[in-house]
Order: sequence, then C-alpha cells, then structure tokens
Amino acid sequence: MTIEPFRIKVVEPIRMSTAAEREEALRAAGFNLFKVPASAIIIDLLTDSGTGAMSSNQWAAMMQGDESYAGGASWVRFETAVKDIFGFQHVIPTHQGRAAERILASTLCRPGQVVPNNTHFDTTRANIEATGAEAVDVPCPEAADLATPHPFKGNIDLEALRAVLDGGAEIPFAMMTVTNNGGGGQPAAMENIAAASRLCRSRGVPFYLDACRYAENSYFIQQRTPRYAATPLIDIAREMFSYADGCTMSAKKDGMANIGGFLCTNDDQLANREREVLILTEGFPTYGGLAGRDLEAVAVGLYEALDQDYQTYRAASTRYLGRHLAQGGVPIVEPPGGHAIYIDARRLLPHIPPSEYPGQALAIEIYRTGGIRSVEVGSVMFGRIDKATGRESPAANELVRLAVPRRVYTQSQIDYTVRMVLEVAARRETLRGVRIVEQPPVLRHFSAVFQPLADRSAAAAAAATT
Ligand code: F0G
Repeated sequence: MTIEPFRIKVVEPIRMSTAAEREEALRAAGFNLFKVPASAIIIDLLTDSGTGAMSSNQWAAMMQGDESYAGGASWVRFETAVKDIFGFQHVIPTHQGRAAERILASTLCRPGQVVPNNTHFDTTRANIEATGAEAVDVPCPEAADLATPHPFKGNIDLEALRAVLDGGAEIPFAMMTVTNNGGGGQPAAMENIAAASRLCRSRGVPFYLDACRYAENSYFIQQRTPRYAATPLIDIAREMFSYADGCTMSAKKDGMANIGGFLCTNDDQLANREREVLILTEGFPTYGGLAGRDLEAVAVGLYEALDQDYQTYRAASTRYLGRHLAQGGVPIVEPPGGHAIYIDARRLLPHIPPSEYPGQALAIEIYRTGGIRSVEVGSVMFGRIDKATGRESPAANELVRLAVPRRVYTQSQIDYTVRMVLEVAARRETLRGVRIVEQPPVLRHFSAVFQPLADRSAAAAAAATT
C-alpha cells in the first residue's frame, strides 16, 4: 500500500464555497474557468505547474538565497545540480519554461524551417511559429487511440520523424516532450528516445528534450522496462539526457518549485548567443529571471523529484484518481498519465457536438457541482478558425484535464473530486453545450466568454412568451 511519503507542516485554508456563490462566480467569469478567482475554487486541478508544495528542505535552502547580481552562491548550487542530473555543459537560467523556449527558438529558427516533436506543448509551438518556422507533431500511432492502454504512448513516431528529417526542409533542431503533456501526460520509452536521437544525430540535427516532467518519465521507464527495474531514477534521467544535445525545462513541474526554468546545450557558440538574448530579456546569466532563493528551491527540488518514494506516491495518486473515475464509468485517456487524468468528454457527452464544446461544458459543470477547477483541452483550446471562411474545424479530441499539483492534495480531497465528477457523469444527459460569444484572435481559451446553450434556449423561450 502506498501512502504519502511526507507529513504536513504548514496548512493553507480552503474556503468552502456555496453552490450559489459558484453560480455567481461562473456568470461573472463568462463561464471561463481561467477567470474564476482562485478564492472561489475548492480543489484546483487547473495545472500542475508552479502549484506544488515545497519541502522543508527547499524552504530551508531558500533562506540561504544569495541575491548577488553576478556569480552568487545560489547560482553555483543551481548550476551544479542541473549539470549533475542533466549533464549538459551550458546551463542558462530562465524564469520559466517558455522563456527557455523563446530563447532557443529565436536563436535557432528561421522562416521555412521545420521543428518536429512528439507533441509540441502550446507555448513551444507558439514560440517556434513566432519565428516563421513550422512546428510539426509526430506522435506514435498508439497515442491516437485514447481508450487502449500502451506503456509508452508518449513515444515519437520514428518513421514520421525520419520523413520530416529527410523531407527537404531545413531542421534547426528536433524535440521530444517527456512526458508528453499534449498527448495525455504519457511517457516515452528510453529505446524510443535513443532511436530518435540516433536519427537526428546521423543527419547532424540537434536533438532536444522538453524536460518539464523528466522525473515522472524516468519513473515510468523504470516501472515499465524490465531492464531498468533496479536502476535508480537519477541514472535513468542521466541516460535519457545523454541522448540529447540540449533541453528546455520548466522547473515549475519536476523542479518542484513555484517558479523557474532553464535551457541547456553542449554547443559553446550557441550558448554564447543564447546568453546574449538572455541578458536582453531575462537577466544576467547567473540568475536569469530568478531570485537567488528561487535558484535554491530548484537546486533542491530537482533531486526531490527523483526520490523513489516520492515518485511511487506521485504515480499512485494520479492512478488512483484515474482508476476510480474509470471504474465509475467515466472514460479517460488510458493509461493514467503522470501528472494528470484526461477525461474523454466526447465519449462521455456524445449528444454535445464539438461545435458546442463538450469539454468546456463538462469543466463548467464539474466546477458548478464541486468547486473543482479543471481545464478544457479540446476545440476551445485547439479548434482552428479558417481566416477566409470564418469556419471552425474542431480539435482531434475533446478532453478535460484534471492536473494533480505535487504534494498538495490529500487522498480524501481526491476522493471528493472523484465523487463530484461521478455525480456529474450520472446526469450526463442533462448537460448542454456552450457557445462562444466573445474571443480574442489568439489563445482564446484564456479569455473567451461563453454562454450556456441551455440559457440561450431558456432566453428564447422567455422572449417567445412575452
Ligand atoms: N513544456 C511543457 C510540456 C509544458 O507542460 C509546459 C507548461 C511548458 C513547456 C511551458 O512551461 O509554463 O514554465 O512556461 N505547462 C503548463 C501546463 C502550463 O499547465 O501544462 P512554463
């Protein structure tokens, strides 16, 4: 039996909202959960990014934060930790993952070039596309079948990668995201990472890892590959990084910190160019956009993420949420991912077409019922609007992500979450879709205003009787 391998030293009160308060919060937010204030949330599963609880060791290290502008002791501890685990020659600190992505893309990418990845995270894609290059996803075929489990659904499709590499376009670098957030938080196999690396290197293309959840990926490799069953997580991580020529990292995930990130490379000249951009936009190369105390929290957190008991608990708690939802008849992406459970809203709500955003409807109802915040990962986030016709094509999947913050929620809070989602699922036929009444041209999911379609028909009926 797996229990939480920690005890609680500091607690943060949760305010229990009433159903009426949540209804009001929803209306005020235009039914967009990004705009609901956190004070009106009971269980916040919006993201696992920067939302974790730090350990007593991290807090103790923060007290030693050296806030020197240049060459601080905290920087030395940060750089030493990153080099020890990740093994790259150059470490460039940034305030979070997307800053590392921006520096990498703006330094290496040009219009017309192509960057393949198992699945680009949305900020990675946006940073590559902002340079005029094209971001191409080549996930393994198993990833498309949401319902059928496979141990390494985060793999890259090696044949498709080869086709991109040999397709005639210039490839500034190739990438693999571990675990694959866009593909359900699924891990990539060591063999697959090594093979992708060989393909890229044989063609002189630098191979990068988007390493946000590197420790979770290492744990899945250990558990699902007999050859690694007895290998310590840190050695698995080191082997994984040995296949890469660089990485981007958001320390808000497996850095176990609330802020932070970095960019690594083995290329001296590239590192110099990247540091020039860093100085322009983030800060001096020995702190990036971070305070000394933030560097300390990451330096300790990177090792805590590799603790065997921690990862055993982490995987068990996410799996627990997924198993109980699935046993209650809620279709999820199988198997449960490392950091999140993804509910398949298309299968749960077949009566709501993609044009009426079943994922958004479900996320709203889960909040309304239990004060639980999740995030739609479907046509609101990824639907594409044709500029010429104004017509919208739906996303490949209609998912709702329940991301699990690290070391934050107890099992009874997860039990509550299961109960509330099952309550919504029990009355699934009564759920109605939503429409978008206001949206910005890009990244609309953050600020779009929605209207429940049930409201609209009620309003139409009211108008008809007056
Ligand atoms: N890459 C992956 C795979 C991510 O999941 C994220 C962030 C980033 C890069 C960017 O890092 O937020 O520090 O700038 N994912 C968060 C999420 C936001 O909710 O999945 P960042």
